[in-house]
Amino acid sequence: MVIPLLGWLSFIQAGKLVERMASVLGWFKGVRMDLGQAPAEELNAVYTIIPMSLGVLDGILSAVFVARFIRRLYRNRHGVARINYPEGKVMSGAVGPTILEFIQTAGIPHASVCGGLGRCPTCRVQIARRLAEVDKPSEHEAKALGRISAPNGVRLACQVRPRRDITIVPLLLSTATARDGRLPGGL
Ligand code: FES
Repeated sequence: MVIPLLGWLSFIQAGKLVERMASVLGWFKGVRMDLGQAPAEELNAVYTIIPMSLGVLDGILSAVFVARFIRRLYRNRHGVARINYPEGKVMSGAVGPTILEFIQTAGIPHASVCGGLGRCPTCRVQIARRLAEVDKPSEHEAKALGRISAPNGVRLACQVRPRRDITIVPLLLSTATARDGRLPGGL
């Protein structure tokens, strides 16, 4: 994604430079005269390079999107899940562990008063993206969520085993107590 972005930034920079030069009286006229005197082969080269550059840019952008698509297919097929966490933190690994285990492996502080038994429920998170990719709550988890009237999308990090890429937002501070866990809502 960086290469096309740099390309666009250079393009904008070049536009600003031309704008500055064009503000000098007579500059544009001079350019037209120079163009008029330029040898035909040089002009042809310029007119060939412009569509070529646009084609290359197009190709790079398409390649980036295709690469991202292939990467997602690969992940889904080979059982790799990725969890996007606030502040740009990303955790990824083989499918199997719970969200809480992913978080703990990454060394991110996260409340889990009952130690992952699905009771407290201080580990709860909001699944902010791709909720449909997550398995429905078990009876045990649903009961715990029901006790705090959890709205749609709120799940227990210690009970969900992501099989696809998801985005989550923790709902309680990592220092939350059992009492905080019993209160509806979060943070
Ligand atoms: S750690 Fe207690 S419910 Fe998840």
